[in-house]
Amino acid sequence: MTPEEFRLHGKAVVDWIADYYKRIESYPVMSRAKPGEIRASLPNNAPQKGETFDAILRDVEKLILPGLTHWQSPNFFAFFPSNTSFPSIMGEMLSAGLGVQGMLWATSPACTELETHMLDWLVEMLDLPKKFLSTTTGGGVIQDTASNSSLCALLAARERATNYTSNERGCDGKLVVYTSSQAHSSIEKAVKIVGIGRENLRLIEVDKNFAMRPEALAAQIQRDLAEGHTPCFVCATVGTTSSNAMDPVRAIGEICGKHKIWLHVDAAMSGTAALCPEFRWIHDGLELADSYCFNPHKWMFTNFDCDCFYVADRAALIRTMSVLPEYLRNKATESGAVIDYRDWHVQLGRRFRALKLWFVIRHYGVEGLKHHVRRHVELAQQLASWVQEDSDFELAAPAPLNLVCFRHRSDDATNQKIMDRLNQSGTLYLTHTRLDGKFTLRVCVGQTNTELRHVKSAWNQVREAAKGEQRSA
Ligand SMILES: Cc1ncc(COP(=O)(O)O)c(C=O)c1O
Repeated sequence: MTPEEFRLHGKAVVDWIADYYKRIESYPVMSRAKPGEIRASLPNNAPQKGETFDAILRDVEKLILPGLTHWQSPNFFAFFPSNTSFPSIMGEMLSAGLGVQGMLWATSPACTELETHMLDWLVEMLDLPKKFLSTTTGGGVIQDTASNSSLCALLAARERATNYTSNERGCDGKLVVYTSSQAHSSIEKAVKIVGIGRENLRLIEVDKNFAMRPEALAAQIQRDLAEGHTPCFVCATVGTTSSNAMDPVRAIGEICGKHKIWLHVDAAMSGTAALCPEFRWIHDGLELADSYCFNPHKWMFTNFDCDCFYVADRAALIRTMSVLPEYLRNKATESGAVIDYRDWHVQLGRRFRALKLWFVIRHYGVEGLKHHVRRHVELAQQLASWVQEDSDFELAAPAPLNLVCFRHRSDDATNQKIMDRLNQSGTLYLTHTRLDGKFTLRVCVGQTNTELRHVKSAWNQVREAAKGEQRSA
C-alpha cells in the first residue's frame, strides 16, 4: 500500500469509526453471536492473493460487527467500563503510525520522556503522594493492565522481603501475601505466577461494607509470624470489582509499616475519581503505600490498554526486573542518566502509549476530565436514589462513586431473570455479582457518552423487566 493509497483508505477508516459512534445505539449492546458463528463465516484458509481494502472494510461491517459487544455504547453498564474518546483513538492511531518500540530510552527518547512526564502530571492531577514522582526515589510507568502492575509489585515485594535472593534461588515456601476476600482475581493469579503459591495467600475478611477489616489483617499477620511465615505483601483495593468497596488504606498501611510489609494499592477503576478533590478521601493513607496503580483505560477516556503503575522506590523494582544482555547495552543506559522502562515490567518491548494519554489530558484539560467524572458519579447517585425510593428494590452495598449494586427484593432466580431479559433485549448491558451470598445486579456508569437519558431508561427497563417476571411467575 502506497502512502497515497493509505491516505485514501485511512480516511475511510476514520469515517467508518465516526459513523460507528453515530449509530452505536442502534446495535444490541451485548453481542448475540452464538459460539463458533463468527469463525464459521470466515474462509477456511488465508487468501493466496491480496484483496482490496474496500473488501476488507466491508467484511468488518458484515462479519465482525455482529460478533461485537459494544463497550462504547452509552447503554453499556456491565463490569467496569473500558471507556475511550476520540483524542485517545487518534493518539493510538499515531502510535501505530509511528511504530516505535520504546524498550530503552535510546530506542526512542520521546517515547520514554513523554511517558515519564505524563506519569508525573498524573501525580499532580490525582494529588498522589510526591514520592511517586520520577524526581524523587520513585516514579511511574505505563503497564498494559492492573494485573501486570500487581504482578510487578508482588515480584519487587518478594525480592525485598528475601533480600533479593529469591530471584536467584527461588522461593522457600515461607512468604505470605494478604488481600481481602473481595480483591480482584489478578492478585490470586499473581501469587501463583511469582511462585509464592495459592496456599500462602490469605484472604482477609471484610466488614459489612465489603472493605478489608484491618484488625483481621493484623491478627492474621500475628498468626503467620508465630508459625514462622514471612509476611511480604498486602494488596489493598480502592474500589473493589464486585461492589466498589474502599479498603481503609491508612489503617492497613500502618500495619504494613509496623511489619515492613510491602503495601500495594489497586485502584484500577476508582483511582480516576481522585481527579476531583471531593473524592480524594478514597486515597487517604496512600503515602504509606509502596506501590499504586489505576487504569486510565477504565474510566479516564483513554482506550485500552493503559494502566499507570507507581512505585515509591524504583531501585527495588529495577533491581528485581533488570537483566542486561550484551545486545541491549548502549551509552545512554551506561551513563545512568536515562530511564529504560524495559526494567519496570515483565516484557521487553513496549508501545508508545503515552501519546494517547497526552492527547486525552490536553484535549479535555484537567477541568474537562473532572467534569465528566463528576457527571458519571452524579448519574450513578441518581440511580441509587431511585433504587432506594422503590420498595420492590434494595441497595446491596454502599454506592460511593459510579457503581450501583442492587437487587429486586424477591429472590435470586428473579434477579437472574431480570438481568437475562434485559441483556437479551439488546437495549442495555449490565452484569451481576454475589454479595452476602445473594445474586446482585450491578450498574456501572462510566462510558464516555452516557447521559441522564440512558440511566433513566435503564432504570425504567429494570422495573419493567421485574414486573414482567412477576407477571409470568
Ligand atoms: C479492582 C480491579 N483490579 C484489577 C482489575 C484487572 O484489570 P486489568 O484488566 O487492567 O488487569 C480489575 C478489573 O476490573 C479491577 O476491578
